[in-house]
Amino acid sequence: MSAALSAALSMLSLGGYRVVVLDFSGAFGRALACVAHHVLGRAEQALWQGFALERKRLTWLAGRVAAKLALRLALAEDAPRREAGDLPHLRDLPVLPQTGRSGPPHSPIGGALSLSHSGTLAAAVHAPTPVGLDLEGLRPIGANARRWLLSSSEARLLGPDPDDAALTHLWAAKEAVLKARHAPNLAQMRGLRWHGWGQDGTARVTDTNGPLAWVHAGLWRGHAIALATYLPMKGERAHA
Ligand SMILES: CC(C)(COP(=O)(O)OP(=O)(O)OC[C@H]1O[C@@H](n2cnc3c(N)ncnc32)[C@H](O)[C@@H]1OP(=O)(O)O)[C@@H](O)C(=O)NCCC(=O)NCCS
Repeated sequence: MSAALSAALSMLSLGGYRVVVLDFSGAFGRALACVAHHVLGRAEQALWQGFALERKRLTWLAGRVAAKLALRLALAEDAPRREAGDLPHLRDLPVLPQTGRSGPPHSPIGGALSLSHSGTLAAAVHAPTPVGLDLEGLRPIGANARRWLLSSSEARLLGPDPDDAALTHLWAAKEAVLKARHAPNLAQMRGLRWHGWGQDGTARVTDTNGPLAWVHAGLWRGHAIALATYLPMKGERAHA
């Protein structure tokens, strides 16, 4: 299993944050279900077994493993001299929704945790302050979705004929902001304003009523990946 995990694992750096990405298309994906009871705690197993679709069980499980690895990484970075054996077992780092069966994941070590899946990839990040991660396979964004995504000023910034990569990149950026803010639904995307990409791949995204978010994003193996952190407005408390 550890050889399969090593082959499946990539570490990306976005804005200085380390993002764990797992590709569960190969041997690692085939082995995942067999090791579920080793990596999931009791409450996680109960939730996992309740998902009717095999595809959902696999992506959910891969997301948990990515998140647990991100948590262990954060713990290891916090105490670099700690022996690997001192780090908690994956099973003892529960990654559960804050409430119910789905929703923003709770970080069992403090700080904030975010995870995303797309195709056969699952990615996760832990950060000391609110964070949102989004992974999107590059795809055409149709006229209907564009109406959610783009204001007229953003459309002008993107240029007359933006390609799938540019649009998916922006979609991931805005979704990452919504996830950092634990937004209840995608409809809030309409309230976000993107102000263009900087040369270092970062952007500012503002919300008419909300705080300023910083987005770090890139394109990787046919996917757009974006990580957002936000600064609370004066007088507002961050929710981490
Ligand atoms: C947050 C959301 C936009 C992500 O959608 P997505 O691109 O399909 O999924 P991703 O793989 O990027 O992210 C899913 C993960 O984000 C997390 N998540 C779910 N809702 C979240 C929210 N409101 N804020 C932050 N994170 C959230 C969960 O960890 C979830 O993974 P899990 O289900 O395996 O635990 C979507 O789940 C959502 O909108 N949820 C709210 C419910 C809702 O209104 N859905 C209708 C959408 S039109």
